[in-house]
Amino acid sequence: MLAIQGIAEAGSGHPGASLSAAEIMGTLYFRRIKHDSSKPNWGERDYFVDSKAHSAPAYYATLAVAGYFPIDEIKTLRKIGSRLQGHPVRYSEQQKHHSVPGIEYSGGSEGIGLSVSIGIAIAHKLDGKNNRVYVLIGDGESNEGQVWEAAMAASKFKLDNVIAILDRNRIQQDGFTEDIMPLDPMRDKWLAFNWNVIEIDGHRVEQVIDALNKAKQVEDKPTIIIANTIKGNGIKHMTNNPQWHGKAPPRKHTPILLEELESECLIAPSIIAGERENYDEKIRKAERGGADLVHLDVMDGRFVPNTTFSANTIRKLRHITSLPFDVHLMIENPLKHIRDYIEAGCDIITVHAEACDESEFASIKESLLSKGISPGIAINPSTDIPNWIYSYTENIDVVIIMSVNPGFAGQKFIPEVLPKMVMINKKLREHGFKGYIEADGGIDDTTLQQVYDSGARILVAGNAVYGSSDIHGAIIQLRHKANVALERRLIEHASAIGIRSEWIKIRRHILIPLANELGIEGELHAIE
Ligand code: DX5
Ligand code: ZN
Repeated sequence: MLAIQGIAEAGSGHPGASLSAAEIMGTLYFRRIKHDSSKPNWGERDYFVDSKAHSAPAYYATLAVAGYFPIDEIKTLRKIGSRLQGHPVRYSEQQKHHSVPGIEYSGGSEGIGLSVSIGIAIAHKLDGKNNRVYVLIGDGESNEGQVWEAAMAASKFKLDNVIAILDRNRIQQDGFTEDIMPLDPMRDKWLAFNWNVIEIDGHRVEQVIDALNKAKQVEDKPTIIIANTIKGNGIKHMTNNPQWHGKAPPRKHTPILLEELESECLIAPSIIAGERENYDEKIRKAERGGADLVHLDVMDGRFVPNTTFSANTIRKLRHITSLPFDVHLMIENPLKHIRDYIEAGCDIITVHAEACDESEFASIKESLLSKGISPGIAINPSTDIPNWIYSYTENIDVVIIMSVNPGFAGQKFIPEVLPKMVMINKKLREHGFKGYIEADGGIDDTTLQQVYDSGARILVAGNAVYGSSDIHGAIIQLRHKANVALERRLIEHASAIGIRSEWIKIRRHILIPLANELGIEGELHAIE
């Protein structure tokens, strides 16, 4: 979001490339790279080389959030006198007015970053250090012969401390990579150069983490992670369109674009629904259907009148998928059991406000954060959110607002929770909450629009998914409904700021198939 804000403010930049590499950079800086923003020259740090450099806005945004410079400075992107120029410049004391701490490499001339990374990596080997060099390369710059010379050198020197990530978005400055200079079969090429090759979806953070973990275990070979990405990901009318390689969106569109990036909706099938057990199969089917999370309902027969499974089952299920586990603990005294769930491999752990007090929650949250697990808090339909929650907003990633009384899947949605959801969402945001509101219970294609409009962005769906004979189709249908809900919101936003027909026009290739559901057939016709 910061990247788009900066580009729109500057009136120039590369939105597409920033959006294709956003998850990769975020995962590197917040989950992988050894670094310390208070000591940018720390001798034990890992290096990051942004070879493609066109993703500079995303890079700056990541560094700002990581604490290297004030977030507000993003607004100076590409302005005369700013440290944040179109292509990042390596930081040095002498150049401190032209660059920001943390940047190790001056990009812009394409095809060179891998060679520089190899130099750094060889130096580390000679010094007996085990820091790694992560290098982001673009597929456009892979046209350069120097990339392939570097590839040969890295395997000759057995540089297992080099981890390259290829942002494979298939679009370069003037068009599609395969038209300009075909690169495929990319995987075979790197294998032939004797690299360890891992191929992933570069927008799935869990896959990026997984690949980086695997790369760390490889010895005597460099690794390349081919991250299949989408240029312009997250802003639908920019996706996969070469036109948006280097064009800034009009400034008046910024609030709607930011809303779109913020309005991404995650679908979390709840595996206790439908036929009993058979969890392995249910998780596999959810993954195939394109679910974003797996929702795991833990019930102890005391906090709720039903028993499901506990940490042991979760541990056994962990190897089935790399999809994040969204674990909802409906148990008494969660603090007592939290360690078991931490060790089981959960990614989000949510406890009920009714089951713990402020000090217990504070200890739970600390243990989770220290292990990189997202903390969540849940409240029942009839519970008012306790006020102490607002003092933890910066550290809570998920707030589950139950839309049924917990205990069983397949219950009827309670619409009375909607105004509460709106109110809580508003108040949480006022207190700096940056996480997700999760709606849990009775979500299906008839209730989805309302919970979406009330602010929920993680949607748990039990019966709507596993009660169906076509699990894959059921997930796709929910996703479609969420898309319609999003487009409706964006159009309303555009109307409110007086650019409705301009928005519908720029977005028409997305809106045409939804015109009927959105009731905008006439308007689209007039535009054509
Ligand atoms: C209720 C659980 C929910 C529920 C979801 O106690 O927390 O996750 O099972 O299932 P549906 O969508 O069927 O209400
Ligand atoms: Zn649940």
